[in-house]
Amino acid sequence: MTPAVEFKDVTKRFAGAASPALDHVNLTIQPGELVCVLGTSGGGKTTLIKLINRLHDPDSGTVLVNGRDVSTIDPVTLRRGIGYVIQQTGLFPHMSVAKNIACVPTILGWDRDRIDARVDELLNLVHLDPAVFRDRYPAQLSGGQQQRVGLVRALAASPDLMLLDEPFGAIDAITRASLQDELLRIHRDSGKTFIFVTHDVTEALKLGTKVLAIDEGRIQQYAEPDELLAHPATPFVRELLACQGYTRDGRRG
Ligand SMILES: Nc1ncnc2c1ncn2[C@@H]1O[C@H](COP(=O)(O)OP(=O)(O)OP(=O)(O)O)[C@@H](O)[C@H]1O
Ligand SMILES: [Mg+2]
Repeated sequence: MTPAVEFKDVTKRFAGAASPALDHVNLTIQPGELVCVLGTSGGGKTTLIKLINRLHDPDSGTVLVNGRDVSTIDPVTLRRGIGYVIQQTGLFPHMSVAKNIACVPTILGWDRDRIDARVDELLNLVHLDPAVFRDRYPAQLSGGQQQRVGLVRALAASPDLMLLDEPFGAIDAITRASLQDELLRIHRDSGKTFIFVTHDVTEALKLGTKVLAIDEGRIQQYAEPDELLAHPATPFVRELLACQGYTRDGRRG
């Protein structure tokens, strides 16, 4: 099977930085995985995501999506095929919820009826009544509702790959748990590849088919959640688990 995403010896260094943001990263993500990228602040999680959709380009090495070197793909074309959700949701404030969700389908030239049906389908998917929410503006939504709209906007044209960079930040625990459940269901039903950044160990263990622990630009471990808990590969992973209350036998202390 062609990997959904591959990093081959990828290094990214920002101007003036003492050490690279990503340092000789090698990684293979198979289609259909829900990879949770886990690490502390500044570890390189967002950089990793942005190298996939070419918001950054590597200094050396190759990033491949579906077997194709992304440096050979026009960035706009590439991004149209990749769903992207950022922490601040990035909704367009002057556009209604429906218009926000319809963005990529509109660019792709879908007809009006198909777009309308898709918007309703997606709002229902995250339990927002289309009759109530279609015509609202982002400022008229709660934080959790905005994050739901941000999530389904990225799903609108059914991309094969979804990149989610801490999409559920700044949200109360109950809303966050229900968003996580919705994301799990959407991932299961779609069969697509999801890469989800979080600094929350519990979230990563709950959501991930795989967890990618990353620190100081280097991969610390790429493993299934149970394996990570049972056999943390580096002192960083051990400390990350311990700091968030996970004991050696995998139970929360
Ligand atoms: N545009 C940039 N210019 C210069 N340095 C940058 C830039 N973007 C990121 N960095 C640096 O690269 C390193 C990795 O940053 P990155 O944003 O990938 O971290 P992160 O793991 O996403 O952190 P957080 O959890 O805080 O979002 C950091 O040291 C950061 O300061
Ligand atoms: Mg980040």
